[in-house]
Amino acid sequence: MKAVVIRTFGGPEGLAVVDLPAPLPAPGQVLIATEAIGVGGVDAVLRSGALAAYGFVEGHVPGSEVAGVVTAVGDGVDPSWVGRSVWAFTGTGGGYVEQATARVEEILPLPARLSAVDAVTLGGSGVVAHFGLAHAHFAPGESVLVRGAAGSIGIMAVQLAARGGAGAVAVTTSSAERGERLRELGATHVLDRSGEGGGGGGGAAGEDRGAPSGYDVIIDVVAGASLPAFFDRLNPNGRMVVVGAVAGQPPADFGTRMMAAFQKSMSFATFSAATVPGSAGRAVRTEQFAAASRGELRTVVHEVLPLERAVLAHRKMAAGEVFGRIVLTP
Ligand SMILES: NC(=O)c1ccc[n+]([C@@H]2O[C@H](COP(=O)([O-])OP(=O)(O)OC[C@H]3O[C@@H](n4cnc5c(N)ncnc54)[C@H](OP(=O)(O)O)[C@@H]3O)[C@@H](O)[C@H]2O)c1
Repeated sequence: MKAVVIRTFGGPEGLAVVDLPAPLPAPGQVLIATEAIGVGGVDAVLRSGALAAYGFVEGHVPGSEVAGVVTAVGDGVDPSWVGRSVWAFTGTGGGYVEQATARVEEILPLPARLSAVDAVTLGGSGVVAHFGLAHAHFAPGESVLVRGAAGSIGIMAVQLAARGGAGAVAVTTSSAERGERLRELGATHVLDRSGEGGGGGGGAAGEDRGAPSGYDVIIDVVAGASLPAFFDRLNPNGRMVVVGAVAGQPPADFGTRMMAAFQKSMSFATFSAATVPGSAGRAVRTEQFAAASRGELRTVVHEVLPLERAVLAHRKMAAGEVFGRIVLTP
């Protein structure tokens, strides 16, 4: 079968299309003929070699989520899965293939009106956004800032905060065009990457003068050197939850700024979907798939590319061109 592997750690050109033997489902697994493969930031981190110290080696097949049709089951799995359309989490790899395996606990049937492409756009990111907001103890009426809102997690966080009755949903983004698209998804205020009104607003200098000066909740996909400056944008009792680090690690002394504002009783947390119990993640994903199939949640697909164009997909990610998610099809 056709597959994409990380032949050489480094840039996107290190990805290569290869022919691999089709896998057999192990006990407890299903085999899926893939129809859509989600391309995520973690795939790029693995491709770079940054996680080589954690046992990832060249030859690794990236890709954590796929959707398609179950074609076979391993021992111990209900054979009635065969022929059903499912979404699947494949783990830290194994997704960039024509035939993927997944543990049966990690698959979910697709509602009739949800496409495979939409499922891999929503599947992983929607759960991160939902539980990230829950981790921040977000409550209706509160003001929310989504930092790095133009990616698949941010897009979901904006929609969920708006649906959840947020008093305001501000976003950071790098262009006015993206700001407009985020407004269509529920953002009420558009800020530039530094959190100032402007850049992402209604034009080069289109300041968003009505934006709140402080937020009850910040969902941060970005982290990096600018993270401490966003502590200043938390209201008293405000909560910042970091769900991603697309700009890298914050400065080592990042907590100093929060300590300096001791009397504001602010909170800082990280959040990883790895800590969500399987049954809870499954319940939320089921609800989100149903909401998306009814048109109540929007999936934003940047582009659908053939599997063999994975290098191009990663180049587009590296260039910061992607709004939403790139999906590969075999
Ligand atoms: N918590 C979890 O369980 C979990 C699960 C999966 C993935 N992740 C993490 O989530 C992140 C990927 O999420 P994603 O796919 O939604 O994000 P993404 O699309 O990679 O990035 C989100 C947005 O951040 C902005 N951005 C990029 N670089 C920036 C920089 N240097 N400074 C400021 N803004 C920047 C860009 O928008 P603009 O150009 O519009 O500013 C970009 O569209 C990764 O860190 C990944 O490891 C976490």
